[in-house]
Amino acid sequence: VYVITAACLDVTDRSCVDECPVDCVYEGRRKLYIHPEECIDCGACARVCPVDAIVWERDLDGDGHAHLGDAHAFFYRPLSGRPKPIGAPGGAGMLGPVGVDTDLVTAARPAVG
Ligand code: F3S
Ligand code: F3S
Repeated sequence: VYVITAACLDVTDRSCVDECPVDCVYEGRRKLYIHPEECIDCGACARVCPVDAIVWERDLDGDGHAHLGDAHAFFYRPLSGRPKPIGAPGGAGMLGPVGVDTDLVTAARPAVG
């Protein structure tokens, strides 16, 4: 699976959303998240992200791995401000912006610069 890593934080360019053929890139507040089960691993999103935030799982570093687990948390765990998990809705466009982030992303410091 492909994973959106910390480089997306507070950038949220969204080119990946337009590129994804299965509409599986979901919008949080400060970051976007790829659905681990809906993604078909085509890699199109990774080619268009201007900050190279999207990484194939086997190429992840330690921090990137945290974001792989975090993607599961985003969809399958209750979050602050969103008590019910969203599971696999089958389309980000239909769902619209989710408006909350995981604890990991919420706690991340804003990028400096
Ligand atoms: Fe983020 Fe890059 Fe997509 S900045 S929203 S992962 S195009
Ligand atoms: Fe979509 Fe990227 Fe997966 S374009 S199918 S999220 S690899």
